[in-house]
Amino acid sequence: MSKHFIETENKVIADSLKIRFYPIAVKSAKGTRITDQDGVEYLDLAAGWAVAGIGYGHQRVSNKIKEQYETLSFTSQLSAPEPTMVSLAQKLLDITPGDFPKKVWFGHSGSDANDCIAKLVPLEKNRSRMISFMGSYHGQTMGSLSLSGHPAQSRFIGSGNVVKIPYPNPYRPLFGDPKRLTDQVIDYLENEVFNTVCPPEDTAGIIIEGIQSDGGLIVPPADFLPRLQEICRRYGIHLIFDEVKVGLGRTGKWFSFDHHDIVPDAVVLGKSLGGGLPISAVVARKEILDVGTGIHLFTTSGNPVSSTASLETMKIIEDERLIDNARVNGEYFMTLLKQLQEKHEIIGDVRGKGLAIGVELVENRVSKVPAAEKTAAICYRCYELGMLVFYVGIHSNVIEITPPLTITKKDINLAISVFDQAFSDLEQQRINMDRVKEYAGW
Ligand SMILES: Cc1ncc(COP(=O)(O)O)c(C=O)c1O
Repeated sequence: MSKHFIETENKVIADSLKIRFYPIAVKSAKGTRITDQDGVEYLDLAAGWAVAGIGYGHQRVSNKIKEQYETLSFTSQLSAPEPTMVSLAQKLLDITPGDFPKKVWFGHSGSDANDCIAKLVPLEKNRSRMISFMGSYHGQTMGSLSLSGHPAQSRFIGSGNVVKIPYPNPYRPLFGDPKRLTDQVIDYLENEVFNTVCPPEDTAGIIIEGIQSDGGLIVPPADFLPRLQEICRRYGIHLIFDEVKVGLGRTGKWFSFDHHDIVPDAVVLGKSLGGGLPISAVVARKEILDVGTGIHLFTTSGNPVSSTASLETMKIIEDERLIDNARVNGEYFMTLLKQLQEKHEIIGDVRGKGLAIGVELVENRVSKVPAAEKTAAICYRCYELGMLVFYVGIHSNVIEITPPLTITKKDINLAISVFDQAFSDLEQQRINMDRVKEYAGW
């Protein structure tokens, strides 16, 4: 059944819409489990690219969606607003730091929300330039791809106003010395970039992922984000956090920047915000979002059904203490993965925060040559063994673990045993590499 479906899907669905790691054909999902069209059940460590934060098919969200659709299936909030979107905005304002006037903008995807940043921040500041980071993934629309520094967007030139600087990667320090990484990147920004291609007085904003996710699940040194904030404040540059993937509890706090003393000028949200329904948001200083009437809007922005699903999702995160679960079970997961690292030479690094975890695979721990094909093979083998996981990274060699925040220790134990088996199978050449090669991945 799955095989036939996949053949049909291949004929009708655009390749530009695909990143495939194995031949999964989904039928249903509940909690942390996905069932395919042949009835096989999988433990899902990807949560559909971090969307299913509260897990799949939550009954409370399902009830709310049905109720809302029957009461008011749609109104365009642009011209005839209703209270659900407003309540959601109030909730987002409550959890976002900053005791200055703030407002909320709504869209459908991380991409259109980052487009909001690309358009409105330079306009409001009356400064033309933006700074972002190499390896960053902010989206696929023209504005968001212009901000991005990931290979997935590199075939497009995008807008010429964005300057990209290195993201501090402790495992692969670009300037050589991991102990001086923060100083070196900050120094590069202040003394090289500002003095040459991107004068600070012409720079409107710096956008950053608190953990660079698609770039390789990279956690910057602890002092980096505060130092970046210091620079932004000194030069009057807006500091923007893209929390689309790691926000809303995944790292063990509402936001990744909450691990530091940081108050962003704008926060971008998406993915898990809608509990599976499409919705994105920007929470930002009022003056940024009020820079013009009707200049970044979409007819179905903040629609009542998505807003209701989102509001209920936020309540579930609180009621079920999912942020604590992300912190505690994330630490548990990392500890077990580090034990696995002692056993399997190919695991070069295990890193992360909460339930945003990266496992970087290398051919050799000294040379750190990225083991891209083997990473694809591990993901493929995990699928064969009943577990879904994807890989990321500018070298395509980082297994990304972003399960639903509801994951239990029992599920984590199971995940570890599947990984262990997959690594052993790789070492003993029991994985069919020809089959793995059929899937291009990133
Ligand atoms: C950090 C980040 N920002 C933005 C996006 C784009 O989101 P979307 O695919 O919903 O447009 C992604 C998607 O992976 C992301 O990881």
